[in-house]
Amino acid sequence: MNSGYTAVSRCTFAAVAVLALAACAPSGVSYSKDVQPILTKNCSECHAPGKEGYVASGLDTTSYASLMKGGKFGPLVKPGDALSSSLNMLVEGRAHASIRMPHGREKLPDADIETLKVWVNEGAKNN
Ligand code: HEC
Repeated sequence: MNSGYTAVSRCTFAAVAVLALAACAPSGVSYSKDVQPILTKNCSECHAPGKEGYVASGLDTTSYASLMKGGKFGPLVKPGDALSSSLNMLVEGRAHASIRMPHGREKLPDADIETLKVWVNEGAKNN
């Protein structure tokens, strides 16, 4: 009787530990499943050909290729280096307040900011 109870609680503990780890250090971020939806939702309404953000900065966030190309201020993403990638600086608010993105909007949710960071640090792959 007793041993059954112990097994269950160990299992619960293991599940909680795995969840906690996953929450602290997300990994295996996918461009198509995780990153592009964040950009589509928060950036592409302005950063698509013909829209105000694109006209002002040359940045088009509607595809992997155009994102990696960057805008007229240069590349936005340095694979493996979220610390110095403009994409991360802008959404984390590490750039000057006047150019935090999304432009004139609420900051992105922390989970999205973290997803972009992990994706860049994992090599900004087209996965
Ligand atoms: C409401 C429209 C709008 C949204 C949404 C928006 N932007 Fe922008 N973005 C602009 C405008 C306008 C500019 C040019 C003016 C400026 O630099 O402040 C700009 C400029 C930029 C620049 C060039 C900054 C520089 O001056 O070096 C980058 C990079 C950028 N946006 C990235 C993003 C990203 C990433 C997102 C989504 C998280 C985003 N933007 C969302 C309108 C927008």
